[in-house]
Amino acid sequence: MQEKLLQLSSQARAAFLSASNRVELEDMYRTYLGKKGELNVILQELPKLPTEVRSSIGSIANEVKKALLVLYEEQKKKLSEEHLSTLEEKETIDVTLPSPKRTLGHFHPITQFKKEILDLFTYLGFQEFDAPYVETDAYNFELLNMPKNHPARDLWDTLYVTPQGEKYQPGELLLRTHTSNMQVRAMEEMKPPIRVMTFDRCFRYEMLDARHSHTFSQFEVLYVDTNVTMKTLKGLSDYFLKAIFGEKARSRFRPKYYPFVEPGVGVDALCVFCNGKGCKVCSFVGWFEIAGAGMVHPAVLKNGGIDPDKYSGLAWGFGPDRMLMLRSGIDDIRLLYENDVRFLEQF
Ligand code: DAH
Repeated sequence: MQEKLLQLSSQARAAFLSASNRVELEDMYRTYLGKKGELNVILQELPKLPTEVRSSIGSIANEVKKALLVLYEEQKKKLSEEHLSTLEEKETIDVTLPSPKRTLGHFHPITQFKKEILDLFTYLGFQEFDAPYVETDAYNFELLNMPKNHPARDLWDTLYVTPQGEKYQPGELLLRTHTSNMQVRAMEEMKPPIRVMTFDRCFRYEMLDARHSHTFSQFEVLYVDTNVTMKTLKGLSDYFLKAIFGEKARSRFRPKYYPFVEPGVGVDALCVFCNGKGCKVCSFVGWFEIAGAGMVHPAVLKNGGIDPDKYSGLAWGFGPDRMLMLRSGIDDIRLLYENDVRFLEQF
């Protein structure tokens, strides 16, 4: 029996020492020292022993139990301390670390530019006037002095929409190719003086490349009053370009044909990178074409219900995408419409 006790003692010691956490240690305790543990199983044999050995075996059993209890308590303490220190390690907060980056949403660069431009013209008394994306052939072409089969329609590669229902025939509905579709709509709704503007999307059947997108923005201005002249157009062009590109900027007009204006001009902006000398940015031209404009054609005024003998008007269609690309050094228009967050985050 003594041998059994000593064997149990060394087994239990090894077990206690090998426990790697408190749960394991408690398991070992139950196995060896618990009520139904191995030590008690042996001790139950004690009364059956002859009296002369009983007391010495009894005291050995007590010694073994005491020593094991001491070891158990030591291990318990050690494992608790270890547990605490790993917890501390895991949960320590290093206050010197940079805080996680908080991402805040912001307006798309085109929307920011739109606000900037609309503000410039609101200041001059212009108000926003919206026209639909899905437009009729009439407002997009016909009332702008381009009857059916007019060759100038080829200037715009048009996306047609299949009409639903009876109201429109095939070929009568399209995605507006320019914001000029607002012109006759505004004239129908308002009386001169008319000062309206639109900054919004247009659509064309285009092959995509760095300079072309099927969806793009235009900024349109229409101004109808009794004394609107080419001089007004020139003054407004310079005002606008200086506000966007800085004091050095100015505009230049070249004769250009658009059916809805007479005379019609192409508006160029002086290249602010080389001051007109010619550089890589302006392909060594010194100027950028940024708008089509002119005096509203008398036929268009008439279509809008305005007497061309009494009133004159000016109109402009800018390519704001191009202007923003120039100002911010963006070399591909697709970046403005693909919504890649890595690009947008830079604005
Ligand atoms: N709508 C023309 C285009 O998309 C641009 C334009 C030219 C607008 C002359 C105008 C204008 O208002 O007067 O190419």
